[in-house]
Amino acid sequence: MSSSSSPSDRRLSALARHLSSPAESPVAGVSASITSSDVGSVFSHVVRAPEDPILGVTVAYNKDPSPVKLNLGVGAYRTEEGKPLVLNVVRKAEQQLVNDRSRVKEYLPIVGLAEFNKLSAKLIFGADSPAIQSNRVTTVQCLSGTGSLRVGGEFLARHYHQQIIYIPLPTWGNHPKVFTLAGLSVKTYRYYDPATRGLDFKGLMEDLGSAPSGAVVLLHACAHNPTGVDPSLQQWEQIRQLMRSKKLLPFFDSAYQGFASGSLDKDAQSVRIFVADGGECLVAQSYAKNMGLYGERVGALSIVCKTADVAGKVESQLKLVIRPMYSNPPIHGASIVAAILRDRNLYNEWTIELKAMADRIISMRHQLSDALRARGTPGDWSHIIKQIGMFTFTGLNAKQVAFMTKEYHIYMTADGRISMAGLSSRTVPHLADAIHAAVTRVV
Ligand SMILES: Cc1ncc(COP(=O)(O)O)c(C=O)c1O
Repeated sequence: MSSSSSPSDRRLSALARHLSSPAESPVAGVSASITSSDVGSVFSHVVRAPEDPILGVTVAYNKDPSPVKLNLGVGAYRTEEGKPLVLNVVRKAEQQLVNDRSRVKEYLPIVGLAEFNKLSAKLIFGADSPAIQSNRVTTVQCLSGTGSLRVGGEFLARHYHQQIIYIPLPTWGNHPKVFTLAGLSVKTYRYYDPATRGLDFKGLMEDLGSAPSGAVVLLHACAHNPTGVDPSLQQWEQIRQLMRSKKLLPFFDSAYQGFASGSLDKDAQSVRIFVADGGECLVAQSYAKNMGLYGERVGALSIVCKTADVAGKVESQLKLVIRPMYSNPPIHGASIVAAILRDRNLYNEWTIELKAMADRIISMRHQLSDALRARGTPGDWSHIIKQIGMFTFTGLNAKQVAFMTKEYHIYMTADGRISMAGLSSRTVPHLADAIHAAVTRVV
């Protein structure tokens, strides 16, 4: 591909590469040949694609008739009773919206609900953020975290001089696909050390240190997915210094604000450290987990710029990215978020419910760790308590995971990641039995 090709050429070519890559090729046993029922279809050459590695876990779970089956694959919060949760504060906000007869269903502007954008920026950057006060931030409502990443990626592909984005290894499985299809070239930096089940800080600093000047770097703002391993504040500061000195552009993915520690401010500290130095960055925010608005698809992309003038121009170009993609975002989820963030009582109620979710997850960590200790399960399982956020990166290998699914009907991603939010006091013993059997019987 010549370097003079347009972003859309690059995207088409990336799409072709992506679809022909081994990871996306037909799974074993699925035939690409034309069967008799296909004959005559103009689509008979279409090859069946594999299930998404994360959402596919739920598909397999749904097919399992076992009464003891347990889905720890998808990152969605469940109550102690194993049920999805709609926050009380969300129900209240929705009731307000329903009762307000003046509300209409007109299209939102291309950039979404203005009040939602303002309040989202305040939530992540802090109410007294100088960047907001000096109008250096442009915020646009997008389709949850994924849509925010995609719009930001496409803006960078069109308007930023360096087309390389570094993502951590490992990372959320959708990152490489989102950024490749946005038109960027994806590379990885070392992040996780399997030996310590902690951060490979040295590897991270070396890889970012040798990245080309100007490269974009994707950083998980908190509760890194899938590892549950975050840099300490001192390490964030060192990362910041290195990145600023090399003019690397930070792109934060904030999918778990408040979910990691239970505190919205604490979980935003990494982002605020970078914004405080006056430099530029992008932030993708999701309200899927912290407000439980998964299916409402509500999120925001903020771009912090050097000046208000630049921010205004950047916003005008973001509109050109969004308009042909989905025209404008949906109104309902953003209205719920705005209703909660604008009202002191609802906001306080939200923080209490959010902390309760975070605390329940932390308590699951302790219960699982205790259960393994009680069983004398071989190995050091202290990482279950040390890791934070929704997931534990157990260190179980793909064979052990397959064994646990077959013998114990426990569903999780093949990399050994389990969603702690899907566990309850009732199901911890079953999981502990399965882990114990897997590590003692499967190498
Ligand atoms: C790290 C990370 N980023 C982004 C997302 C996007 O989520 P959503 O598009 O549902 O907001 C997720 C969801 O699991 C995630 O874990």
